[in-house]
Amino acid sequence: MCGIVGYTGNRQVLDILIEGLEKLEYRGYDSAGIAVHNGEMKIFKSQGNISSLKSKLPSRFEGTSGIAHTRWATHGIPNERNAHPHLSFSGNLVMVHNGIIENSEEIREELFANGYTFVSETDSEVLLNLIDYEYVVSNDNILQALINAQAKAKGSYAIVLLDKNRPGEQVICRHGSPLVMGLDDSGCYTASDIYAISEYATRFVFPENGDIIFAGTDGIREVYTAEGKKKSLEEKKYIVDGRLSGKDGFDHYMMKEIFQQPEIARDLLSKPLPVVSEKYSAEEIDNIFRTIKGVTILGCGTSWHSGLIGRYLLERLARIPANTEYASEYRYRDPVIPSDYLVISISQSGETADTLAANTLVREAGAITLGILNVKNSTLERETDMQIYLEAGPEIGVASTKAYTAQLVRLAQLAERLAWVRGETVNSTLLNGDLRQMAETMTMILKRSGKLKMLADKYSDSNNFLFLGRGLNYPSALEGALKLKEISYIHAEGYPGAEMKHGPIALIDHDFPTMAIATDRENLSKMVSNIKEIKARNGRIIAIIQEGDESVRSIADDYFEIPNVPDLIAPMVTALPLQLFAYYISLNRGCNVDQPRNLAKSVTVE
Ligand code: M6R
Repeated sequence: MCGIVGYTGNRQVLDILIEGLEKLEYRGYDSAGIAVHNGEMKIFKSQGNISSLKSKLPSRFEGTSGIAHTRWATHGIPNERNAHPHLSFSGNLVMVHNGIIENSEEIREELFANGYTFVSETDSEVLLNLIDYEYVVSNDNILQALINAQAKAKGSYAIVLLDKNRPGEQVICRHGSPLVMGLDDSGCYTASDIYAISEYATRFVFPENGDIIFAGTDGIREVYTAEGKKKSLEEKKYIVDGRLSGKDGFDHYMMKEIFQQPEIARDLLSKPLPVVSEKYSAEEIDNIFRTIKGVTILGCGTSWHSGLIGRYLLERLARIPANTEYASEYRYRDPVIPSDYLVISISQSGETADTLAANTLVREAGAITLGILNVKNSTLERETDMQIYLEAGPEIGVASTKAYTAQLVRLAQLAERLAWVRGETVNSTLLNGDLRQMAETMTMILKRSGKLKMLADKYSDSNNFLFLGRGLNYPSALEGALKLKEISYIHAEGYPGAEMKHGPIALIDHDFPTMAIATDRENLSKMVSNIKEIKARNGRIIAIIQEGDESVRSIADDYFEIPNVPDLIAPMVTALPLQLFAYYISLNRGCNVDQPRNLAKSVTVE
């Protein structure tokens, strides 16, 4: 997490840094800071988000080389002292860092023993002082200092360093954390995410693990490996998705992104599923899909929820064994990884640390990997054999909405494709017509958002919520609960309907309402029984039902009707009322919808 941005060239740097930070704010907003080298080094920091930092900056401020940071706290509380950029012990180096130094305590002790003291509690300052120490030891040879420091530091980092004695020069280094550099005729940009600099830069390079890069007003001057061997980096042109442009009249990014879902679904469903690969030809991909013996799906958070639905769709349509795993658990349990399985990693950002690590594990074990991702040029794209893009445009709201439904559409398309190549031809056309209606169905739901606002007004005071669903609606229940808790700070639990009797029912009373996702025709009578059991204990029910369904409507306290859709694609539709319900409750409770407390959009630390 955390976002870093840097620029050196012949333009004034302040606006570049501030605009870059604003685009990176989704990565964390506990504190922010900038350093500008305009002959002398000036550092400004603030607790809180970029607006607090802006209010602290002088109105006139010159300088053409600078770095900036927006923080998601890992080591040390969110305050000004722990904010970046950090100044080194010698006073010569200033640095911003994204990542985690795992052996920072050990290094801190060693530096203490060498007379170093620290201003902050951060692992970043430890890394900076390690570089500072190695700089002194190697007689001001910054390349050697970085070679030595990288050999000692364990963990992940993307850093940009300024040296007081070398105005206009920046030294960049990365291992594990995302980093892109951009170039234009004016100079050289560095950022955690391409969107932070894509307004200016026209050509891009993606530093590899261990790379040490010297940048100056004339662009990238030299690149070295972690061992100090000279190398070069390939420049790429990149067209940035235009859908980034602001909130488009909505009060929040989350609401804009909820309302983008019909258009995204329409776009995705208007073409056959594109599976991209530099490694395999189209025939080879079909052959892989035909011959694999099973599928493992990996992901975290919302992407794990879509993976749970993907498992169901793959089994149901393609009749192939499938399992879905939390990437964070999978990577540490010494899993058996069959080499004839396809492993699918799902990630909006393509930068989630646990998903990437689990993907590396399966790659090393020889499995074929497929990434389903939204952010192009992300690490997951580079580290998978095949890719399917969500094409949802940048998702800025921390709560994932449009990426989730795009994942579901892509997984349905993939399940159909596998069904087709594996000879399950009847199943392969099962969804066709209904999927094509998806955009219209979503639009109809958005038109009913007023009803969800009314429901939110009624239930905003509840401090606990149970979300229940059976079959495909169980992952939807998990996703609905996650949306509510992350943006409104209400305790919410998602459960399969049948499991309720095994414990959670003890919680039920009038103040503990249940959101029952009761659209699944196959299991409807069982869901009706669950709802009655809750009602018998004085619990209140809000039900999401298929239009015209009397069996649930007659017993629920409140209901929201979705247009009639087949069970298999209901999750793509029910996601929308669940998102809107969470959105309106968050507003009613005065929470920060787009930037909920303690969270960040990209979880780049494990
Ligand atoms: O970028 P990813 O899809 O890998 O992110 C995974 C989770 O961090 C993410 O889905 C998170 O759970 C969202 N905030 C949920 O809304």
